[in-house]
Amino acid sequence: MKAYDFKKMWIDYFVSKGHKEIENAPLIPENDPSVLFTTAGMHPLVPYLLGNPHPAGRKLTNSQTCLRTNDIDSVGDASHLTCFEMLGRWSLGEYFKEEAIKTSYDFLVNYLKLDPKRISVTCFAGDQDSPRDEESASSWRGLGFNDDQIYFYGKEDNWWGLATGPCGPDSEIFYDMKPNEPKCGPNCGPACNCGKYMEIGNNVFMQYYKHEDGSYTPLKQRNVDTGFGLERIYCLLENYNNVYDTELFLPVLKVIKELSTNYIESSARMIADHTRSACLLIKDGVIPSNVGQGYVLRRMIRKCVRHLRKLGIAKEQYESIIKATIENGVATKLYPVLKEKEEIILTEILKETKKFMNTLGDGEKKFNQMARNLRNNNLTVLSGEDSFKLYDTYGFPIEMTQELAKENGLDVDIEAFHKRFEEHQAVSKKGSDQAFKGGLAETNEITTAYHTATHLLHKALKVVLGEHVHQAGSNITVERMRFDFPNPVKMTSEQLIEVERIVNEQIKKAIPVEKYEVTNEEADKMGAIGLFDSKYGNVVNVYKIGDFSIEKCGGPHVTNTQELGEFKIQKEEGIGAGMRRIKAILIKK
Ligand code: ALA
Repeated sequence: MKAYDFKKMWIDYFVSKGHKEIENAPLIPENDPSVLFTTAGMHPLVPYLLGNPHPAGRKLTNSQTCLRTNDIDSVGDASHLTCFEMLGRWSLGEYFKEEAIKTSYDFLVNYLKLDPKRISVTCFAGDQDSPRDEESASSWRGLGFNDDQIYFYGKEDNWWGLATGPCGPDSEIFYDMKPNEPKCGPNCGPACNCGKYMEIGNNVFMQYYKHEDGSYTPLKQRNVDTGFGLERIYCLLENYNNVYDTELFLPVLKVIKELSTNYIESSARMIADHTRSACLLIKDGVIPSNVGQGYVLRRMIRKCVRHLRKLGIAKEQYESIIKATIENGVATKLYPVLKEKEEIILTEILKETKKFMNTLGDGEKKFNQMARNLRNNNLTVLSGEDSFKLYDTYGFPIEMTQELAKENGLDVDIEAFHKRFEEHQAVSKKGSDQAFKGGLAETNEITTAYHTATHLLHKALKVVLGEHVHQAGSNITVERMRFDFPNPVKMTSEQLIEVERIVNEQIKKAIPVEKYEVTNEEADKMGAIGLFDSKYGNVVNVYKIGDFSIEKCGGPHVTNTQELGEFKIQKEEGIGAGMRRIKAILIKK
């Protein structure tokens, strides 16, 4: 069976149970600047888990591409990936635990024919916030599970949610990967990472809201949020013991193997995984940079470059691995859209590769010298100064230095690195954090123009609609800008035309964009709008566009409004709770 057919089986199964298929959201969250990536299928559904009606109804399903950076160091083992497909299904205030567990079981055992004896499940053990989840346990028992297949764990293992927002106890499902081997010790169980138990799915019973102060209150509706791992279950169906042997990676690993003069399986898997994630990120508009999503992309590409070198693969040969990744996305039918973006994917990855190749060798020499010095002095910890030098001069992401240190039996003084980093980057970091808070994923010529256009749009909306308008969210890609703001009603077409006219008027006036570095108080005195978190010091950047707009902002911006081209609003829509969203583009002249 093809992975794609398996994905369809999931969706067809839940559609047959009255669920509506919803689309796969981009890897960059659309309306949530608090997180870098879509890490779960529930991410785009937060407003609906909180009670807003979803246009497709109360029972939903899909397959969502997710990216998790917390798994990055486990990549290369049997089951961890940075990007993966989460097969999802949701009940938004409809059915709850029993039905969720019953259908999970039915799908795995009756439909896919997985061996129920190899399945273990976990339930929430209970604490001051929520009772022990006997209801889930008894549902599992009702399906024939013995008590030795049912484990109870606390919040650290059996509770799921983002930093704040909808969350709740969960019931996770594990498959025994070594059925003929005993547990590794008396405490071995699904929470053990010895490799015997692989998590294949999770049902979260989202019935609480986690507040910023860490407290929980009940949600007005009780939801089910289910995520099953496509790659992991598919590998079981194909009788493999790891995801890399499946069609999802094998063709790419073959190419890597052919090119290697010194083949190392874990490095090859890492390259296959990270290259796929890099392709998917670039497809969604990310390009390598030093901040936010762009930094994660840069870090992944640079890690690939280092491991390519370890395998003895020349940088010119990386292209064929990237191409094989794109081809495989098409062949498996999971990511055919990569082909359409082939040019930008190749350009961006190879540009980054070239940039880093030039300093990697020297950086490695420098690192070896540092390591020798430490050893000669009987020391084992690389200083903040040294790791910063590797970062600043040789472009080593700190995670790479940590990886190298580990390989050499050394540690990195990470706190000292961050301190050094902040000293040197105080102003630019402030800028990039602010940019990120505003939802700015990337900075290049095009996104810079969109950033300036955002200021013009912000002001024009205030002029047309009133002072209540403020930036509630912003998201920029190389293809478009989006701006979220409070307004009780839909904008009329006259208002939209007027906003567009005002913005274009300012562009045509060819106004220089001036930047001031001032204290937060001075910025307020200047009349600059925008919130600024003064966590990184008191100095803020203020961008002034003639007498029209003045905002505190991390930048970057164009130097003159005439660089923007023509501003065009494509859509104005409601996004719930008195919030409106404008999507607009700039047409280059
Ligand atoms: N959101 C749940 C998870 O990621 C399903 O495990």
